Amino acid sequence: MCGIVGYTGMQEAAPILLEGLKRLEYRGYDSAGIAVINGNEISVRKVSGRIAKLCEITNDGAACPGKVGIGHTRWATHGAPTDINAHPHVSNDGKFAVVHNGIIENYLALREELINKGYHFESETDTEVVVQLLEMYYKGDLKSAVMRVSSRLQGSYALGVVCSDAPDEIVAIRESSPLIIGIGAGENYFASDITALVSYTKNVIYLEDGEFAQITPDTVMIYDLLGNPVSKKVQRVTWDVQAAEKGGYEHFMLKEIVEQPRAVEATIRPRIRDNRVVLEEEGLNAEFLRGIKRIYITACGSAYYAGCVGRYAIESLCRIPVSTELASEFRYGDPMVDSETLVIVLSQSGETADTIAAIKESKSKGAPVLAIVNVVGSSVAKLADFTLYTWAGPEIAVATTKGYTTQLALLYLFALYTAGELGRIDEKTYRHMLRSLRSLPQKIQESVDLNPLIENYADDYRDARSIFFIGRNSDYGAAMEGALKMKEISYIHAEAYAAGELKHGTIALIEEHQPVIALCCNDTVREKTMNNIIEVKARGADVLALAEKRDADIISIADRMLWLPEVEPVFAGAVEIIPLQLLAYYTAKARNCDIDKPKNLAKSVTVE
Ligand code: M6R
Repeated sequence: MCGIVGYTGMQEAAPILLEGLKRLEYRGYDSAGIAVINGNEISVRKVSGRIAKLCEITNDGAACPGKVGIGHTRWATHGAPTDINAHPHVSNDGKFAVVHNGIIENYLALREELINKGYHFESETDTEVVVQLLEMYYKGDLKSAVMRVSSRLQGSYALGVVCSDAPDEIVAIRESSPLIIGIGAGENYFASDITALVSYTKNVIYLEDGEFAQITPDTVMIYDLLGNPVSKKVQRVTWDVQAAEKGGYEHFMLKEIVEQPRAVEATIRPRIRDNRVVLEEEGLNAEFLRGIKRIYITACGSAYYAGCVGRYAIESLCRIPVSTELASEFRYGDPMVDSETLVIVLSQSGETADTIAAIKESKSKGAPVLAIVNVVGSSVAKLADFTLYTWAGPEIAVATTKGYTTQLALLYLFALYTAGELGRIDEKTYRHMLRSLRSLPQKIQESVDLNPLIENYADDYRDARSIFFIGRNSDYGAAMEGALKMKEISYIHAEAYAAGELKHGTIALIEEHQPVIALCCNDTVREKTMNNIIEVKARGADVLALAEKRDADIISIADRMLWLPEVEPVFAGAVEIIPLQLLAYYTAKARNCDIDKPKNLAKSVTVE
């Protein structure tokens, strides 16, 4: 996710903007820039790479004089992290500069329209359409131009706009992307994130969707999109910088768990149009898919487990055989892939060494590679033939959460898209599945809302020596990810077992009070898993079961229940993992573990 800041007042703007951008660094970024109004001109400096470089080329801001400006840290989405794609973007006539956080979903159509009208584009970004639209609609009044432009935009955006005709003014507008106005004395600010503001002012106004602010050094006016003034309360922030970075949460991991409904929404929404899943813009099409006879999914760690869960969705909707394999095994296993095998790799960072090696191995054998990846311009994205980005935003905690669920969301989209394109499901089922997919962010939210209940349960696990997670099919995939979450942050030994395997050996380990977490969310195997719960209960296990509300009878056999929202069984994996993330989180917290930076682990494993 990008970060934006703005300042208008009596001080030099550039040093304040640079300081604000530094406060946003923790969110992750790959380029940065500022635009400052100097007299009747806008001067722009932007670089790929670190803010330190931006400070260097601007002599800590001294080389960009002026008292009004906007700044940006970019986390690349549309277009690689280059100097040109960095924000701010400037209109063809040089009068406007814009910074943007979010995604303009209809930018391709707008870009074409503007090109036909003679505008030229320098960058590959979705944002640049905004600044050219401003030039097109500007008739001497910045506020009116911003309103016209916003009526043309679809998607999510927090925008900061400056215009050289209005040299002490900034307009900032919000739609589905956070935006905060900071109130000072004779100076005012805006930012996408409270962190950028708290060292300057603790008095803030939170904008709502569909509101925009006209900001000068002495006034802040808020309007709705029809231009009607809106009266807003100034609120006092009590957070210090550290608390603000984590959005008030104690750890990044918890913040990222809570962000999942939004991250999954951002991943799904732009890819559903006119009641269809649309992946053509990302290179896929029916003709290509018709040539695919089998699929391999390969990845590491949690990404591999996302593949284990997603496999069931692809097989059940598309009836194409899918194998999942750890990338570290795949790369040395002389895999039997060819031009009729689609290899799907999953990676949050896009830099995992074994995953990169798996891509190279597949390509050397002529297999097309589809990457599902979070970091734009990463090695995985560059090497793959097709790339679908998870719009999770930067993930800072070492234990992945929103990276994982957005990978699942994309596998589900891919499954439904492929099933539709290949005619493997009828129209009625397609529509039903699409509705279910659309409701996933809401279902995930309901699962996140179990938070207080799970916090209470965590005390029961803090002294456990080991915990077993059991489930079947996609529940088994989720069990593996749940066990990984538990072991990596709480350091409790945790293992997942396919429930049907218990009798083949593992049940020997079940004794009085052994904690077992049973996943019963997949309707098709629910009765079978219930039998396994009865078996472990008979040997004294303490069972926490996760099931949907409609499966009320499980309560009679488990010790405790977590009731999950009802969801189409093939998509249940994205909902049932949330309580397991929370349980791992609170157990680790009860054990005083370093949750965001667990021992011996790195966020990105770039070596073998
Ligand atoms: O960046 P990637 O998704 O390729 O990373 C893969 C694994 O290293 C990663 O999922 C790891 O298992 C996490 N620590 C799990 O929380």
